[in-house]
Amino acid sequence: MLIVKSIASMQRLAGKWRRAGAPIGLVPTMGYLHEGHLSLLREARKRLGKGGRLVASIYVNPTQFAPDEDFVRYPRDLKRDLKLLRERSADAAFTPSDPEMYPGGAMRLKDRTARRAVPPDFGTTVMEENLSRTLEGVSRPGHFRGVTTVVAKLFNIVQPDLAVFGQKDFQQAAIIERMVRDLNFPVKIVVAPTVREPDGLAMSSRNKYLEGDLRRQATVLWRAIEAARTTVKKSRAVSAAKLKADAKALIETEPDARPDYVEFLEPKTLAPVREVSRGAHMVLAVFIGKTRLIDNGRM
Ligand code: PAJ
Repeated sequence: MLIVKSIASMQRLAGKWRRAGAPIGLVPTMGYLHEGHLSLLREARKRLGKGGRLVASIYVNPTQFAPDEDFVRYPRDLKRDLKLLRERSADAAFTPSDPEMYPGGAMRLKDRTARRAVPPDFGTTVMEENLSRTLEGVSRPGHFRGVTTVVAKLFNIVQPDLAVFGQKDFQQAAIIERMVRDLNFPVKIVVAPTVREPDGLAMSSRNKYLEGDLRRQATVLWRAIEAARTTVKKSRAVSAAKLKADAKALIETEPDARPDYVEFLEPKTLAPVREVSRGAHMVLAVFIGKTRLIDNGRM
């Protein structure tokens, strides 16, 4: 497996592969890999075939973290990540540094007006203006601009035919699909199912923050999804307001859990629905102690 740190080398390598006719697959990650990430690699490999070239990027992207978020303490273990990627037969790991990705310093934009945060050597960002305006976009201003900007950069650097994202970050996947469609990136986006721990907790690098009883309390996100599903299954349509109130009440039975949002959406447009029936999508964000977790599921 090649470990590529510079943008120029990655573009050269991708160019060589393209000229040789090999399809390229990309799995973008922020590292500290778990089974969720590895399932995306498997999916990419399955679709690419043996002759394809599989690239995983590992980059904790500063521009998608707000100044008060966990960028500095976000878990990192590059050595272990590279070992896992090697074992999963990735062809290359792209592991750029911050100055490589953001010359002149990375901006951590709190909102679209925080212009002074833009360094002199970097001034172009990508912003999806519809789906980014709700849910995570409200709770984490500037977050999706950071995500779409770095993913657009990764697409230009790795030039993939295929890129795999996780359903775990439901809104993120929808926004990336929209960006690719809006800006005509020649890449196929695949969204792969959420991988869970045996007790239902969605795998996440941030689960590392959950110490002691918080780890148990964190299963309340999954329990809330399951409870809503059971209710929706029983009656053909239920009011979203009732389901939200029930979910929030369940979440609040855990001493350290505080709901940020619970919503029911139409899965393609992310528009909220008033009546929830099968096929609607539940999304939620919950603080467990100081750790903010998100999850989602189809009803
Ligand atoms: P990260 O949180 O590392 O996630 C990388 C990819 O793994 C994302 O597509 C995410 O949805 C997927 N993923 C995470 N947990 C998963 C799980 N339990 N099951 C299945 N897939 C899972 O998401 C990001 O990084 C960043 O925003 C990134 C897209 C890399 C841009 O910086």
